[in-house]
Amino acid sequence: MPDITNIEDLRVLAERRVPRMFYDYCDSGSWTEQTYRANTDHFSKIGIRQRVARNMEGRSTEIKMIGETLKMPVVLAPVGSTGMQHADGEILACRAAHKFGVQFTLSTMSVCSLEDVADNVDNPFWFQLYVMRDREFTGKLIDRAKAVGCTALVLTLDLQILGQRHKDIKNGLSVPPKPTLPVILDLATKWRWGLAMLKTQRRTFRNIVGHVDGVSNTADLAMWASEMFDPKLNWDDIAWIKERWGGPVILKGILDPDDAETAVKYGCEALIVSNHGGRQLDGALSTIEALPGIVEAVGDKIEIHIDSGIRSGQDVLKCMALGAQGTYIGRAFNYGLGAMGEEGVTKALEIIHKELDLSMAFSGETQLSEVGAHTVILPRERAAMALGEG
Ligand code: GLV
Repeated sequence: MPDITNIEDLRVLAERRVPRMFYDYCDSGSWTEQTYRANTDHFSKIGIRQRVARNMEGRSTEIKMIGETLKMPVVLAPVGSTGMQHADGEILACRAAHKFGVQFTLSTMSVCSLEDVADNVDNPFWFQLYVMRDREFTGKLIDRAKAVGCTALVLTLDLQILGQRHKDIKNGLSVPPKPTLPVILDLATKWRWGLAMLKTQRRTFRNIVGHVDGVSNTADLAMWASEMFDPKLNWDDIAWIKERWGGPVILKGILDPDDAETAVKYGCEALIVSNHGGRQLDGALSTIEALPGIVEAVGDKIEIHIDSGIRSGQDVLKCMALGAQGTYIGRAFNYGLGAMGEEGVTKALEIIHKELDLSMAFSGETQLSEVGAHTVILPRERAAMALGEG
């Protein structure tokens, strides 16, 4: 694949190969998509300081996230319906992550179930939990994650109701797709996807279908969200979830220093600065914009991770420089998966790793532990330089 040199190449190929409704589902932000765009735009406004004539040998991108040693500070984020980007997508992505030396997070709204993934990979993975109105079912999900040996529970706090993504409504998003005329015409051009899908039985939300009484049919994500997710979820729930789980908990969806302070009080292992990839509150801050305030508020009290908008190793380096201890990629690996299955996820990880490693070298660093505020140039510093005030 000499022509695949960056994540954008994988995106373009995924757009050609994945049915429109699933490509759009992954790629969309909510409403005007201003937060979705801000996530990537704001990375490009931050500079990296170039330093020269420093010994670049002995570089390492290795890091620990909640005590697990990873080849680089990049975990595969929980992404709903990953198994619709490519047949058996969650299994393939988890395998690619583990072979590469990073971690994979399975979404509650995955196509392959906890048990499907566990039966088909060699190492433990992380599980992302949505809290459902049916607390007994939620509890059983936690028990199932424990039973298959998951090593962290990622509790999502920013999606008890669903932000509107116009394309999902217009495309009639459902898992599996309903055979309407536009869907049939689209699938006719996505034969590679269709052939792989025909070979697997995994085509519904298998963490849920067959596990909840009275639910045997497939349905669309918006329906699940509005009917099953619990809008009453609040901080007090964290205590029973932690107790039932008994292992490391990572709180996902923190964007405000006040919420970060509260998260610390509940004694979790890490928090993820996240706006859900710009898919929930349109108008929310970009995550790289929110990160420094959260680091300042609680950086010495809890491990801080970040997601949303990360498409390159340079982006990862900027996050680490601004105080994150780890990052997650969602779209970047789903593009790889949609483009080329497991090989595409590996490619996405290789691309980001190489970008991170070389950018560290150019900025004069050999270890991530030495990267810091001195590694980047913030927009206000750039403005001051341009005005001759720097
Ligand atoms: C679910 O997590 C979504 O963003 O659609």
